[in-house]
Amino acid sequence: MNKKLFIKTFGCAMNTRDSDHIIAELKEKENYTLTEDIKEADLIILNTCSVREKPERKLFSEIGSYAAIKKKGAKIGICGCTASALGKEIIKKAPSVDFVLGARNVSKITSIINTPKAVEVEINHDESNYEFCMTTESNIRALINISIGCDKKCSYCIVPHTRGKEISIPLNLILKEAQIRADNGAKEIILLGQNVNNYGARFSSPHEKINFTRLLKEISKINGIERIKFVSPHPLHMDDEFIEEFANNKKISKYIHMPLQSGSNAVLKDMKRGYTKEWFLDRVNKIKKLCPDVGIGTDIIVAFPTEKEEDFYDTLDMVKKVEFDTMYSFVYSPRKDTSAFNMKEIDSKIAATRLEILQNLHKQILEKKAKNEINKIHKVMIENIKDSASEGRSDNGRLITIKDTNLSLGGFYDVVITNNENGSLFGKVVR
Ligand code: SAH
Ligand code: SF4
Ligand code: F3S
Repeated sequence: MNKKLFIKTFGCAMNTRDSDHIIAELKEKENYTLTEDIKEADLIILNTCSVREKPERKLFSEIGSYAAIKKKGAKIGICGCTASALGKEIIKKAPSVDFVLGARNVSKITSIINTPKAVEVEINHDESNYEFCMTTESNIRALINISIGCDKKCSYCIVPHTRGKEISIPLNLILKEAQIRADNGAKEIILLGQNVNNYGARFSSPHEKINFTRLLKEISKINGIERIKFVSPHPLHMDDEFIEEFANNKKISKYIHMPLQSGSNAVLKDMKRGYTKEWFLDRVNKIKKLCPDVGIGTDIIVAFPTEKEEDFYDTLDMVKKVEFDTMYSFVYSPRKDTSAFNMKEIDSKIAATRLEILQNLHKQILEKKAKNEINKIHKVMIENIKDSASEGRSDNGRLITIKDTNLSLGGFYDVVITNNENGSLFGKVVR
């Protein structure tokens, strides 16, 4: 009999990928189909994120509201990083939960759904050699894991505690998956890991020596793949060889995420990021020199416990110097099991003001940059066709809206930028 799965995914691209795996395993081995209507679901899965405190707190009220409307006999499962972080505590606090499956135990999904009140959150579980089922539906974009876990110990970050130590996935498995996805219509590949450019540092079984640059070269040999992206690289591992490959390999999208976190050397040291602002700028300058049109994105945390006013100004200064094209910014959120957890927090009003100042500065930068885009021509891949317009991204990661629905999904078009509204870009196809 056909059973229905409802799944809601929070957090980063790794979680999106894990949800893809969960769906594929349940479809192929347990005969589930997806539903968006929670009331008809036989299985409800929340794939959770625990990087900041608020979503974790909201989880329990969310479980409560699902338990109240679910079909009689339907199961609720909590997967992902909060599952890893809280484990069996989840079932204690929310008895309506049927199972808990940690972020590093995704391959156990088909066994856990049939084991009442099971909790599988083994942090050393090694899934790097597991061949997940793949839904064979054609999709223009393929997310592919290249490593699991993270070996860094950034003092604010819970991820090493929820996803365990870093293990690279063997090259042959990555290439096999990429080939299958390309054969099924994928045009773009996004390589995923917490630290992608540390690829090859450790495998769980004997493996030839390889690094991220080699992996990029191998992936780009696959016919049909036209654009390669990756997230997240770590600024510390951006060596010259990697930057040169990034700049010279035509298939690699010229957009790079460079998570700065703070522009102050003192705070970077307290965060245990392993680089200085000078190193970061040197890397940015090298990338910009080799790739003048590059798009650069970043993540920034404001009000880390040791951040003084002058440290915050250093962050503003770096944002002005680099002029990031995308910026995700957050107020520091203390997380249990991290080394910064017991540090005294900065007053929340000061923290909120700093975030606002930073975001306003970035808005101005984006507006200025958007004006400079007028009349430029970009090669755009169409990612979405809506009722009255299509959306796509340029090779350097800019989102462009085209008021033309007569384009093909996954198709590449030369698009000239005609206007911008509050930093958003609009264009038309050059015929
Ligand atoms: N591996 C990536 C980031 C993973 S977490 C890297 O090294 O950059 C995604 C983002 O969440 C981080 O870049 C950071 O900016 C933010 N983040 C992580 N822990 C946080 C915390 N305790 N409080 C606020 N933001 C946090
Ligand atoms: Fe967290 Fe740092 Fe690892 Fe990124 S590199 S996942 S911020 S510990
Ligand atoms: Fe969140 Fe886990 Fe990703 S904590 S950001 S879902 S690695």
